[in-house]
Amino acid sequence: MEYFKKKVLIISPVHLDLISNLKKNKFDVKYLPKISKKKLMKEIAKATVVVLRSGVQLGKDIISKSNNLKFIIRAGSGLDNIDIKEAKKRNIKVFNLPNLNSQSVAEFSFGLLISASRNIVKANIELKNNLWNKPKLYGYELKNKTIGIIGLGAIGSRIAKIAKAFSMNVLANVKNVGKKRPVKVKIVPLNTILKKSDFIIFSVPLNNKTKNLLNNKNSKYLKSHSILINISRGGVINEDVLYTLLNKNKIFAAATDVFLHEKKQNKLFKLKNIIVTPHIGAMTFDAQKILAEKTFEKIKKLVK
Ligand code: MLT
Repeated sequence: MEYFKKKVLIISPVHLDLISNLKKNKFDVKYLPKISKKKLMKEIAKATVVVLRSGVQLGKDIISKSNNLKFIIRAGSGLDNIDIKEAKKRNIKVFNLPNLNSQSVAEFSFGLLISASRNIVKANIELKNNLWNKPKLYGYELKNKTIGIIGLGAIGSRIAKIAKAFSMNVLANVKNVGKKRPVKVKIVPLNTILKKSDFIIFSVPLNNKTKNLLNNKNSKYLKSHSILINISRGGVINEDVLYTLLNKNKIFAAATDVFLHEKKQNKLFKLKNIIVTPHIGAMTFDAQKILAEKTFEKIKKLVK
């Protein structure tokens, strides 16, 4: 193996097993999970392999700076942060490792859902300020309530299974209605989900068809006690619409792990009836350990 072929640049937080395994196998590893765009433009010129997750953009402007890059590995599912066209043009192969973090994300969705429906985060913030606000902290049970899941992929299907264990009525909206699924749920149009669900979880990839799936037009169908959870991508729910819904108390609450622009201030942070988290749905030791293992195997196979 020639020396220049072995440079691996990791620009997102990964399980440290990946770094130690690569080093043991004589790869030249740079682990820069907080890399700035400016530095990335420099570093990418030297790398043969780039490993990334969400929260960092590999756009044309960056990919065009790569001279030796052969492989981009997305340690996760979503490819929306990579300019695949530009990579293809430069003969750079792009791989993702889908489904390995689905259980973590599905469980996390329920963490958000229960926290939002029972005011757990709000109560925690208030009590730490010695505010004992019990009369204002009414919430909702899950049992016998309707949950609408938008997207029944690996994550959505797991969410459906968990919802059934809570004795919830499960509705789902999917692109491919005829497809066989691991869990039996009622498939309905998007507007039916919005009209009938008490809880709505968005679990679809971001693309031209899913951008602004919840928008100014259809948000009027939501119930005043609706709770919205977004664990997919920012942009699937229009952030301005979500802001207005929450600010005017048109819905009970929301929780989102994803934003249109990550690592940036957002007006949603100012609202009391939304829980916000920095895209941590897949941040479990369990999922990241498997992803580190599979990423290492992939790199070893590719870089010979
Ligand atoms: C994914 O697409 O797999 C998720 O965004 C998880 C992540 O990379 O944090």
